[in-house]
Amino acid sequence: LITPHSFLSDVGWLLPFLFLLLMITVSPAQSQGCPQRCECIAKLKTVSCYGKHLLPYSRLEKLDLSENMISVLEPNAFSSLQNLKSLSLRGNQLKLVPMGAFSRLSNLTSLDLSGNKIVILLDFTFQDLRSLKNLEVGDNDLPYALGGLRQIRLLNLSSNSLVTLEEGAFQSVNTLETLRLDGNPLACDCRLLWILQRRKTLNFDGASPVCMTPVEVQGHALNAFSDSALFDHFTCQKPKIRNRKLQQISAREGQVVSFICRAEGEPTPCSCVTVYAYLYVCVCV
Ligand SMILES: *[C@@H]1O[C@H](CO)[C@@H](O)[C@H](O)[C@H]1NC(C)=O
Ligand SMILES: *[C@@H]1O[C@H](CO)[C@@H](O)[C@H](O)[C@H]1NC(C)=O
Repeated sequence: LITPHSFLSDVGWLLPFLFLLLMITVSPAQSQGCPQRCECIAKLKTVSCYGKHLLPYSRLEKLDLSENMISVLEPNAFSSLQNLKSLSLRGNQLKLVPMGAFSRLSNLTSLDLSGNKIVILLDFTFQDLRSLKNLEVGDNDLPYALGGLRQIRLLNLSSNSLVTLEEGAFQSVNTLETLRLDGNPLACDCRLLWILQRRKTLNFDGASPVCMTPVEVQGHALNAFSDSALFDHFTCQKPKIRNRKLQQISAREGQVVSFICRAEGEPTPCSCVTVYAYLYVCVCV
């Protein structure tokens, strides 16, 4: 279920542990933080809630697990909490969110994953979250934006390592009201044009995104561009192969053959390799 950093190693303890966290959140007045009906052995750093029938919490609507040491989420971690509307995992040690971590949370409207160490969010991470409206992923290490967002109203990606946020990340971008994208090394090319076009209606929560590249617009806030500047910057150039040269390679029939080539364009294209005559594999750096 949830593994706190070097705390409980026996997998059998994981299920009670979620409820332990619930109990701590629900009844903070417990002496020494030991949940009611559980047994705590401080010396062994052990809490046992085994077989204590802590199930009434399945009707929980709000679960706050913020500022703990949770480093791993397992698939189906919350799937017995189908009434959950708000889940906060802010300020934990998460690096990855596995597929299925939020499965069956179809009533969840608010998810806070900010202040973790998340480096990747896969497109299907949020696929079960049909009601999700507020997603907070600020203060993580995300280099690529996520995809498959449905009817998001608030998206907070502030202070990550994002170079861009493509419109294609959203099923429909029209529901988006508040966007925090500040604190990212943004490349102001055609991929951010959609934000620029909405810069007067989108709420940046007082922190407009700022360009990092190209150098001519470095440090410029997106909401400060004039309409006329729009098409001078925020453009892209189709990638072109540089130094086309005949390359000779001998191969047996059925063998995979690679050709290395360089390409230029904006954004800087990936180096692509030809596999067979018709198939290209691109490596982006
Ligand atoms: C959760 O969603 C289901 C349908 O998806 C609905 O029947 C149920 O009432 C919802 N629960 C809450 C607490 O909103
Ligand atoms: C966005 O995230 C940052 C960093 O976690 C936080 O300081 C800010 O309050 C958040 N803003 C909104 C509107 O969620």
